[in-house]
Amino acid sequence: MVANDPRVYVYDTTLRDGEQSPGASMNPDEKLLLAMQLEKLGVDVIEAGFPICSTEDFRAVQMIAKQVREVQVAALARANPRDIDCAWEALREAACPRLNVFIAASDIHLRHQLKKSRSEVIELAVASLVHARHYTKNLEFSAMDAGRAERTFLKELFEAAIAAGAKVVNVPDTVGYSVPEELGELFRYLLAETKGIDKVILSVHCHDDLGLATANTLAAVRNGARQVKCTMNGIGERAGNAALEEVVMALATRKNFYGLETGIRTEKLFYTSQLLSRIIKMPVPPNKAIVGANAFVHESGIHQDGLLKERSTYEIMTPQSVGASECNLVLGRHSGSHAVKNALMGMGYRPTEEEVALAVQHFKQRASGCKIIGIEDLEEIFCQEVRHK
Ligand code: KIV
Ligand code: ZN
Repeated sequence: MVANDPRVYVYDTTLRDGEQSPGASMNPDEKLLLAMQLEKLGVDVIEAGFPICSTEDFRAVQMIAKQVREVQVAALARANPRDIDCAWEALREAACPRLNVFIAASDIHLRHQLKKSRSEVIELAVASLVHARHYTKNLEFSAMDAGRAERTFLKELFEAAIAAGAKVVNVPDTVGYSVPEELGELFRYLLAETKGIDKVILSVHCHDDLGLATANTLAAVRNGARQVKCTMNGIGERAGNAALEEVVMALATRKNFYGLETGIRTEKLFYTSQLLSRIIKMPVPPNKAIVGANAFVHESGIHQDGLLKERSTYEIMTPQSVGASECNLVLGRHSGSHAVKNALMGMGYRPTEEEVALAVQHFKQRASGCKIIGIEDLEEIFCQEVRHK
């Protein structure tokens, strides 16, 4: 099912793993608002929460399950009946519910946290999936800390999970330890060696501790993953998760390389990012890829000159394709006469070459103090300091 399928499914976990970002908690109404926007964005699955964790989490999953009808709604549960019953109770009214059952897979976690042997972990995984499949066939199994697990054990665990009914098997790099080549190789191995893998979807879930979450996600996709788990703005536990906007736009912009597609309406990315930022009161860094305020802003004179001649000289995607503002030329001390002339022409002026040169000189003086000059400042400079000097 996976190897030749060009469709990559986007599983958004902003409302669950994303919310684990320090300071990013959301109340159920805020989660519902964001879930409705994620539905419009075109994600395939929304992980709405971890219902056993708190009554607020339970309530949020329940509200989203009732009201978001066009996409799958997932809830997280540890591999035990209490968690699974609770997750199902919250999810049961969803149009297309999914249970995501997880258990640790690395020896570090088994020894120090779970205090269980590998065979006990396999037994628990199987027993919980058998329990969960009484509720739904739409079952996902996540092997926590798979990035550091011994790969033959991971394969064995996935084989057992698939035989017990998992339809999606997920490889989380829980602590962001993997590097792209290594993770790609792990996916190649799992795809080649795991019995039954051709009947299910192989999924990747990366954290950004080494700043590699997007690169690791793409390496996994290149090697057979067909579900990507991401969060808007890359929020999440510690350094965050793979940023949805980055993974999606990498696949879209480099379709010539990956040959894959998602169902994301990319022109809604910018607004979705802004909505999340407003809800959690966490500003998007200006230099954030795809959705940062500077992502389509060109300041250097050479870049502005090229852009004005032909956009593709310095832009690999258009601001419109992600719904970012079209106002992308900020004038600063590195800008040159082409950008200034173009901005003035855009305001309806027809400046002479001498006037442009004088305007450049004046705005550079101003920009040396405040760094960025808006379009209104340029007009003021032009009218008061150039034409009526
Ligand atoms: O990073 C992780 O391992 C997780 C699991 C709970 C799926 O978020
Ligand atoms: Zn995670």
